[in-house]
Amino acid sequence: MKVAAEADRLRAEGADVVDFGAGEPDFPTPDNIKQAAIRALEQNFTKYTPAGGTAELKRAICERHAKDFGTDYKPSECIVTVGGKHVIFNLTQALINPGDEVIIPVPYWVTYKDVVNYAGGKCVFVDTDEEKGFTVTAAMIEPHLTPRTRMVIINSPSNPSGAVVDREEFEKIFRLTSARGIYLMTDECYCKFLYDSAPYSIAALPGAKETVLVAGSLSKTYAMTGWRIGFGLVPQAIVGAMTKLQSHSTSNPTSICQKGGVEALNGPQDSVAAMLAEYRKRRDFVIQRLRAIPGVKCAEPRGAFYAYPNISVALGKGIRNTLEFAEKLLADARVAVVPGEAFGTEKHVRISYAASMAELERGLERLHGFIVQHS
Ligand SMILES: Cc1ncc(COP(=O)(O)O)c(C=O)c1O
Repeated sequence: MKVAAEADRLRAEGADVVDFGAGEPDFPTPDNIKQAAIRALEQNFTKYTPAGGTAELKRAICERHAKDFGTDYKPSECIVTVGGKHVIFNLTQALINPGDEVIIPVPYWVTYKDVVNYAGGKCVFVDTDEEKGFTVTAAMIEPHLTPRTRMVIINSPSNPSGAVVDREEFEKIFRLTSARGIYLMTDECYCKFLYDSAPYSIAALPGAKETVLVAGSLSKTYAMTGWRIGFGLVPQAIVGAMTKLQSHSTSNPTSICQKGGVEALNGPQDSVAAMLAEYRKRRDFVIQRLRAIPGVKCAEPRGAFYAYPNISVALGKGIRNTLEFAEKLLADARVAVVPGEAFGTEKHVRISYAASMAELERGLERLHGFIVQHS
């Protein structure tokens, strides 16, 4: 947040900042989705809806998930939320009691830690191996399970590393958790953005529906970050608890956005493939370009749209940590990145390649010069 605020300030002053900080698609929302929201406005679909979302959107979510992954959720097992963050917030608040332990692989998306802490839970961080692309395994998780473990959170593909948990490994993790009655939250926010494997959902496994909690979002898949539509596919009793919480806080997600969501899920899906093809080109370029910087290592992201290079070569001589690295990089070279400390590691920065090729070229050139200068 600190780096983003400073980048905004510099930009407002007219500085030429290359922004690799933003975690959102640079593509516009597809036109068919926008038209559906416009129609909703014109037809005065502008009133309250049920707090947990319209029946129409719940149906569309269940049908899309079934078509894509072979699951069989019913609308009664679905809740529509105000973005993916909201479903994760409400799930943790509904399920985590003070003292409950929640397993979070490192590097992690920042929000998990804070929502677990907010619920009074205890985060149990599980380190992963950079050499193996930061992917988490059942063997890494198992030693951390205790009688107090309430939930394991898996985010594949991962923000910030792009790591992917392959199906077999995810099944092993599921077996570990389900045998002990532990909830397995699968954050599927980037589930369609995979570069070398096919999308799947662990929720499709027989018996998974009792303990697997799907946290989904339309934000990245359909370039709809500002619309704020997320969803949960969870046991019906949990839908009830989350809906209670939601009905006294946000109430329903915005009515016209829900209509846009229906179109996103029921309409043509080719924009998703087009975005993926573009991200792949950018990923290949970014990785090759980062690895060309002397001393920089970068695990290959297998999904999402982030690279997580190890920039430790530039730490130690005047720059003490990745926050200082990001601050100085912004001040001197006008490139915004997110320091790895935010994601629980000490030697990395996150680069979002949801930016145009021209911006990537310009920014990586600057990053190269900056690292060489400080190595
Ligand atoms: C891993 C992960 N999960 C969930 C979300 C939530 O997205 P939103 O609240 O925009 O739907 C994000 C957004 O950055 C994310 O990176």
